[in-house]
Amino acid sequence: MADDKKSQQIEWSSRFAFILAATGSAVGLGNIWKFPYVTGENGGGAFVLVYLLCVLLIGVPLMMAEIMLGRRSKENPIHTMEILTEEAGADLNWHYLGWMGVAAGFLILSYYSVIAGWSTAYVVKAFFGSFSGANASEVKAIFDNFVASPMQLIFWHSVFMLATMVIVARGLEKGFEQSVRLLMPGLFALMFLLVGYAMTTDGYFKGLDFLFKPDFTKLTANSVLVAMGQAFFSLSLGMGAIMVYGAYLPKNVSIAKSAVIIAGADTVVALLAGLAIFPIVFSNGLHPNSGPGLVFETLPIAFGNMFGGWLFGVLFFIALVFAALTSSISLVEPAVAWLIENKGLTRTKACVYSGLVAWLLGFGTVFSFNAWKNVKLFERTFFELVDYLTANLMLPVGGFCIAVFAGWIMHQEHSKEELDLPGEHLSYAVWKFLVKFIAPAAVFLVFLNVVGVL
Ligand code: TRP
Repeated sequence: MADDKKSQQIEWSSRFAFILAATGSAVGLGNIWKFPYVTGENGGGAFVLVYLLCVLLIGVPLMMAEIMLGRRSKENPIHTMEILTEEAGADLNWHYLGWMGVAAGFLILSYYSVIAGWSTAYVVKAFFGSFSGANASEVKAIFDNFVASPMQLIFWHSVFMLATMVIVARGLEKGFEQSVRLLMPGLFALMFLLVGYAMTTDGYFKGLDFLFKPDFTKLTANSVLVAMGQAFFSLSLGMGAIMVYGAYLPKNVSIAKSAVIIAGADTVVALLAGLAIFPIVFSNGLHPNSGPGLVFETLPIAFGNMFGGWLFGVLFFIALVFAALTSSISLVEPAVAWLIENKGLTRTKACVYSGLVAWLLGFGTVFSFNAWKNVKLFERTFFELVDYLTANLMLPVGGFCIAVFAGWIMHQEHSKEELDLPGEHLSYAVWKFLVKFIAPAAVFLVFLNVVGVL
């Protein structure tokens, strides 16, 4: 009966198509905008090390779990949790997990779209040569003036949100594969080029040291939480985004291999962004902890002063906007799929409603950089609050529950059958150990540590 209501009857055309889509979701502003600035705010090397450990020990096994749950039910996350709890004979309260995921998706999208709007505006600025020959303070002034204007931010936020919703309304399959296929290599090439430029600056080794030389005295309980939250955020985990993509995955594809490739690509892009940005920070006497403006205050200096910088600048910001688009669609797709399948809305209507909610919420973030700059709750602006709530609390809690569900509730035969790991039972045992014990315990301990119990 439910069949005619399914929005997800299609399957990815190949394993490669799935990997492209999931990598498209993972690689985005989280890698290029957020990773560098949170690394800068949290002291560098030690933070990066904790981040990498989180990706490896929590991120990869959890990504496998999400793909697995999605593929098993072939449904949206809320319904997935309902079907799978029934299959496991477990408490139905588990489906609230799906709800929290949808809520987290909206909250993240609301600010994601604002920052993606900045990136869109920067395509235009780069095109009109705003950065040509500019020094650090001129580039900073361009950024400061820009974010001081709510009207401009609202305009670009609206443009980006509209673009996201138009793509989601047309359905994921159309044109999506091709655009990610082009985007990923392009983005990689541009990142390498920027790292190449960074190598020519006299801050290069200082930047390397900052990123890779751990100074554990700089690591607070809160920065460990931020590192863990960043791993969830960057890999798109903990809210069902990867679950939705898993629902389209053909049976014969290896979940483990896919997860390793996706997480690997995501991590490489983040590290390249760090390698490009911190040398520019140090060679221009800037501060690593300058916050969410960091990328926008550093990379334009490179474009303004390198050979071919005009062209590369325009291309880079276009690539960034595309990377943000392929991520933002995965933030609303769970909600849209649910509205279609369970509430009987048409795809277009589902998109209009979801888009409106996220767009309105985004105003809070817009004003956090100007009119409400000094309006703070728990010492945080609206943007900082929403970011903290989602990345550092909701995603890890969601991830914790997904790990517990996959490790403790779901029947062993089912997870074994879905994952179909090669080589006796060892690799399955490793995965099981990680989702059953390590991932939930890590999240729990980090939380305890932050509230000061440990
Ligand atoms: N991972 C994306 C980025 O790094 C953002 C993102 C897309 C996301 N979908 C998500 C984050 C789901 C958390 C959950 O830019």
